[in-house]
Amino acid sequence: MDVLINVFVALHIIGIASLLGGFLTQMKAMGAGTARFVPAMLHGALTMLITGVALVGLNQADDHTLNNLKIGIKMAILVVILGLVYVKRDEEKVDKALFGAVGGLTMANIFIATLWV
Ligand code: HEM
Repeated sequence: MDVLINVFVALHIIGIASLLGGFLTQMKAMGAGTARFVPAMLHGALTMLITGVALVGLNQADDHTLNNLKIGIKMAILVVILGLVYVKRDEEKVDKALFGAVGGLTMANIFIATLWV
């Protein structure tokens, strides 16, 4: 079971790479107000949700205790990210503040995941 959990942690990290990587490719455009939500960000956010829910199930099935408050906050933040990226996925230009908010929320989730035990 531990191997399976670690495989899902790896997939979870691939999801972060896609979501954050997509954001970082648009940083220059964001400065000019022409950034857009690239498909990698949408697919990364979806990957985070699916692998995150799977990780909750696998950890519970294996009797590992999880910090439910931390997971709940991460999930709430991700739902906001996913909602924004999904709704605006076809817009060719996204407002600088909104685009920056998605990057900020993604980074907030990374720090919540790694600093909060
Ligand atoms: C942008 C959103 C997210 C980011 C950046 C993120 C980041 C991370 C990272 C870096 C880890 C590895 C931490 C470690 O092993 O110490 C992790 C683990 C985990 N994540 Fe996420 N995550 C996100 C969303 C979610 C969501 C939505 C869920 C559940 C619905 C979730 C559930 C979990 C679980 C259960 C683990 C393994 C147990 C733990 O370390 O707490 N994650 N996440």
